Amino acid sequence: MQDDLLNTRQVAPSVLASDFARVGAQVEEVMTAGARVIHIDVMDGAFVPALSMGPQMVSALHDQVHDAGGWLDVHLMIERPERHVEAFAAAGADSISVHVEATPHIHYALKAVREADCKAGLALNPGTPTTAIDSLAGAFDLLLCMTVNPGWGGQPYIPGSEARIEDLRARIGSDVPLEVDGGIDVPTAGSAADAGATLFVAGSSIYGAEDVAAAYREIAAAAGA
Ligand code: DX5
Ligand code: ZN
Repeated sequence: MQDDLLNTRQVAPSVLASDFARVGAQVEEVMTAGARVIHIDVMDGAFVPALSMGPQMVSALHDQVHDAGGWLDVHLMIERPERHVEAFAAAGADSISVHVEATPHIHYALKAVREADCKAGLALNPGTPTTAIDSLAGAFDLLLCMTVNPGWGGQPYIPGSEARIEDLRARIGSDVPLEVDGGIDVPTAGSAADAGATLFVAGSSIYGAEDVAAAYREIAAAAGA
């Protein structure tokens, strides 16, 4: 796939906020507007209260997204994610993020993602100390900093997340993609970018807008993408 995509600033629309009756058309809308990274939120009703979607959504979208030169970014909000990595990789995921809080075997889970030929993302909840990543240096390809508590779209960005983003950026150095997820809109994309984020998940601020393409472009401009 487009291996260098994550090394550029990107806004990743989240399918969770799209109209599930016409997901393909909604993905096409944002890709036509310029999006190349599509974010898929997987929830299991255990790590987070809600249920959302599984590998079937990745399979359903992978031809469309890859044919348009895009990237499928899968965010696993599930317990024991290592047990499901293979299924998401086989379905066509390009990157798979696993939560440090979701398994006692986080190093193994990240390794399983790489062994499945996907980029390995390490995700952190807002309440998790940033030092949690220190023993995992070199074991992940991207870092996902939650800027809301995971489990629902449409929540407000947690104020003060910039300090966390700056702290994480300092720990990983300048080359590792740093993804922010939750409550990203025009103002928060700008402040997260200033703090060091490079990949910006946006759900309701894009799909909740009347003009989806215009909303994507405004957030991309604010993020410097
Ligand atoms: C939240 C998910 C997010 C969600 C973001 O648990 O991880 O990716 O789709 O939605 P918004 O942008 O609406 O906060
Ligand atoms: Zn997400």
